[in-house]
Amino acid sequence: MPRYAAITGWGMAVPERVVSNADLSRVVDTSDEWIRTRTGILERRIVGTGEYTSTLATRAGQRAIACADIQPADIDLVILATCTPDRPFPATACRVQADLGIPKAGAFDLNAACSGFVYGMHVASAMIRSGLHHTILLIGVDIFTHLLNWNDRNTCVLFGDGAGAVVLQAAEHPLGVLASILGSWGDGEELMAAEAGGTRLPLTPELLEQGQHHVYMHGREIYKHAVREMCSSSQHVIAEAGLTIDSINLVVPHQANARIIEAVAKRLNVSHDRVFMNLDRFGNTSAASVPIALCEAVDQGRLRAGDHVLLTAFGGGLTWASSVVRWGQEDRY
Ligand code: ACO
Repeated sequence: MPRYAAITGWGMAVPERVVSNADLSRVVDTSDEWIRTRTGILERRIVGTGEYTSTLATRAGQRAIACADIQPADIDLVILATCTPDRPFPATACRVQADLGIPKAGAFDLNAACSGFVYGMHVASAMIRSGLHHTILLIGVDIFTHLLNWNDRNTCVLFGDGAGAVVLQAAEHPLGVLASILGSWGDGEELMAAEAGGTRLPLTPELLEQGQHHVYMHGREIYKHAVREMCSSSQHVIAEAGLTIDSINLVVPHQANARIIEAVAKRLNVSHDRVFMNLDRFGNTSAASVPIALCEAVDQGRLRAGDHVLLTAFGGGLTWASSVVRWGQEDRY
């Protein structure tokens, strides 16, 4: 009997502090009008004192566990997708495992930048379908504002902080990920990176002074790659799942830029009402963007049991990933 990996719980956590476009226009040469019309973003959440990657991830994880109506001890693997861990070493997933009171389960970080959560769906689903694991907590979390140069208007207006989590559990019915694909183009790393702070260019006082630890980005180039790869990977998984675009009830894309999402929707021939967007309130939360959007879509009643949802994301690396998910839970099937 084939095993599937159904999503049985979900939860999100964002910082309380709201920073509007008008607030940003007081620290960098930008305007509400530019940010709104070029990106669709109106405001974002930014962490305050005492909030780390692990604290946001733990809050989202607690909500997902409560929603799934399971105990922490039921979880046998924690996958934490992030490119902004608490510390370079060890993995933030281990801190979160301990803070959630999950005894002994394996825990590891996964870095695929903004594609991290959809990468994690692929990995978690394969782990459950293989029979190696039964119940996995997958968290997408980033404090991307940690990497920003607040004098660089090309990047600092785009991002926000947050976390989103799902519980995936073994199911006998065809639920959860029906098809998924991962992709990367390593030569595209120069399009978006933080140069200093790793083994290739260890941080020195001079590099710190130059701001080489901050992220830089060639937005226009990323934009083109994003639209192309999100479209082709989406078409691939829809076909692989044996579906057509008309049987996709909702698209939950990475929330980077409203214009990217609209271009993808147009190329895929999906009507506006079948595309979920909440980047106006959160900006680009990197690995948290897809799970936060998924949580809000469910809370707003946009997904019902049996619906097909397309998740699609792209990010630094460059990376991209898409999944077709059948929504619903085994006991309510
Ligand atoms: N406020 C005002 N003006 C600005 C700002 C700003 N915040 N940022 C850039 N500009 C200026 C530029 O300097 C430029 O001026 P110039 O023509 O005098 O040189 C002008 O606006 C146009 O800049 P473009 O970069 O051409 O603007 P574009 O329309 O391409 O929009 C944007 C820029 C929003 C970054 C877009 O290219 C985009 O969304 N790209 C995708 C980026 C992305 O999503 N990256 C995240 C990857 S996910 C991850 O891994 C974390």
